[in-house]
Amino acid sequence: MNFITKTTSIDQIKSDCVVIGVYTNGQLSQSAEVFQQHSNISLNNLFDAGEISGKEAQIVTLYQPSSTIKKALIVGFGDKDQVTPESFRKSINELAKVLLKKPSKSVSLYIDEIAVNGWNSGDKARYCSERMTYASYRFTLDKTKKSKKSTISYQCEQISKTKKSLAIGVAVGNGVNIARTLGDLPGNICTPSYLANEARKLSRTHKTLTTKVLSEKQMANLGMDSLLSVSAGSTEAAQLIIMEYKGAAKSQKPHVLVGKGITFDTGGISLKSSDAMDEMKFDMCGAASVFGTLHTLIELKTKINVVAIIAAAENMPSGNATKPGDIITSMSGKTIEVLNTDAEGRLVLCDALTYAKHYKPQSVIDIATLTGACVVALGAHASGLFSNNNQLAESLLESGQNTGDRAWQMPIWEEYKEQLKSNFADLANIGGRTAGSITAACFLSHFTKDYPWAHLDIAGTAWLSGNDKGATGRPVPLLTDYLLKQAV
Ligand code: BES
Ligand code: MN
Ligand code: ZN
Repeated sequence: MNFITKTTSIDQIKSDCVVIGVYTNGQLSQSAEVFQQHSNISLNNLFDAGEISGKEAQIVTLYQPSSTIKKALIVGFGDKDQVTPESFRKSINELAKVLLKKPSKSVSLYIDEIAVNGWNSGDKARYCSERMTYASYRFTLDKTKKSKKSTISYQCEQISKTKKSLAIGVAVGNGVNIARTLGDLPGNICTPSYLANEARKLSRTHKTLTTKVLSEKQMANLGMDSLLSVSAGSTEAAQLIIMEYKGAAKSQKPHVLVGKGITFDTGGISLKSSDAMDEMKFDMCGAASVFGTLHTLIELKTKINVVAIIAAAENMPSGNATKPGDIITSMSGKTIEVLNTDAEGRLVLCDALTYAKHYKPQSVIDIATLTGACVVALGAHASGLFSNNNQLAESLLESGQNTGDRAWQMPIWEEYKEQLKSNFADLANIGGRTAGSITAACFLSHFTKDYPWAHLDIAGTAWLSGNDKGATGRPVPLLTDYLLKQAV
């Protein structure tokens, strides 16, 4: 998909498809008004007949409305004075689906004129190009397959500003789709070493990125026995993947992203039940979102330094696997009693978080499909946010609001930390039946005292189940928005 900016009024346009907005109560946008005058269609009549309601996300297709327009999509945006970012997003999401289902070679969008509460022109353009890029995603193992190209003309007044916003939206959409591809890949293909190779490939094609991969032996030398306890039962070797993106001066301290990269989570000896176990191929979506975010930063040449650390491992049962009750020593020196081998995410993350220290980071954000409890608490709509720094938490919440990729903060109070007490080690790796996503975050908080840190539990937001089963690419929009704002 190719986005260009134009200022052609709708009575002058020659197009395979035009997109115009209408509102409830028969109200028309400017272009809808002009369209009606210059076509053989009366939108007023269609409203009167109840064919068009103008309600948000309602889309009506009109064929050959004039000699120069092959197709018009009439998109409802709801009450003219009450178009909120939420309702705008709903309409655009639906539009993107319709546009991609029956692609046209050239599409003209008359969207800029829709007033959205609290948003400027750039916000609208950015969301449109992000969502249309998102909708163009198809999972395929056949890399030679190419989708049909279409050119989208975004009709607007502020050409150069809008161009920039469109480019940001495309870059975010591309990052999201990279994350979805990695997430959707099955565990037999997307192994820890597959992820390591993806990282190597990325740095080969981009000068601003360098990749270093630590082997199990190198991790053992660093004392990362907690991470290694997870891969112990697997024939796939764990990989600690470190990518450094240098977009700013060396003197700028980096932001660190840490991704949980469990390429398949069987639960280990604390084996999961078999229903829907296939979905545990998505247990590397944290890592996938880090890859996606880096792609976006590279594409936009963002002036920032970011270090990505991906803790990649496969959690399997076997004769070599870690057993419940085993005690391991993490890189930090803290000992951990592994009461449940299915609480493996925190075991790989804690060593990666300790490793992050030597970058003297400005902020560290870990992203992980960490707990089923987070799915129970927040469902598929918000990621769980935990942080030891209010300013960082506020910024991330705001980026979630800005992008529609929302997070919701939960506490990590001392009281909850009691639940992680062990009679045999410094910490237990589980905290009992209650407040599961909080105790998981509390576990991580023991390893993140030296820097501003936030943890995003994306167990509910990173993929969809049911008919739409697949990775969502979240929270790439949130992370990129946050990092773009931190750029110099
Ligand atoms: N990867 C899972 C979390 C998960 C479960 C994500 C279901 C999405 C859906 C994680 O490794 C896990 O198994 N967590 C356990 C922790 C428990 C043993 C304390 C869980 O949530 O059941
Ligand atoms: Mn698990
Ligand atoms: Zn897991």
